[in-house]
Parts: sequence; structure tokens; C-alpha cells
Amino acid sequence: MVIDDKIKFKRHIIICTNMKDDPAAPCCGRGESFGLYKRLKEYIKSKNIKDSVKVTQARCFSMCADGPNMVVYPEQIWHHHVAPEDFDEIVEKYIRPFEVK
Ligand code: FES
Repeated sequence: MVIDDKIKFKRHIIICTNMKDDPAAPCCGRGESFGLYKRLKEYIKSKNIKDSVKVTQARCFSMCADGPNMVVYPEQIWHHHVAPEDFDEIVEKYIRPFEVK
């Protein structure tokens, strides 16, 4: 194992985009979390802050009934039932502070 102490994101947003095969099983992917993930990723790229803010997908936090789920580091702030309409609030709270002015 190699520890890499050069990678230092100021913010890491992880969104569960898991889509289960069973259509009756609750899962984050059915809540349009993949679209939200893609929009956030494109926003970060457009602002050229990829070295400061990272958005990644998760494949299940085992909190499926509360999904779509999202966690924000370094504070480890959990959000349940995130939706595409939360985009502006997520940007304002967690990304905009790291945009270059
Ligand atoms: S599918 Fe997202 S927490 Fe399980």
C-alpha cells in the first residue's frame, strides 16, 4: 500500500448512483442521482476547479430506502433524498466557496 499525501481535495462529494436489478428494490439510481452527479461534474469542470472539488459516484451506502444519498467530505455531512432540483443548493453550499474569483 502506498500513501499519496499530494492529493488534497478541499471538498469531496460522493453520490450513490446505484441501480439495482430488482425494480421493486429501493435504490438511489431510480431517483435520478446519476443525472445530478453528471451535472455537478460538468459544473466543476466548467469552473476549472477539478483539483479542489471532486465528485464521485458510489455503488451503495446501504441506506437505500433513504436514497438518493450523498455525503460531503471533509465534514462527512450526509444528505438523503437528494434530487435534481437540489443542484443549485449543492453548488452554493459546497462548491461555490472553492471557485476562483
Ligand atoms: S442504492 Fe444508494 S444507498 Fe443503496
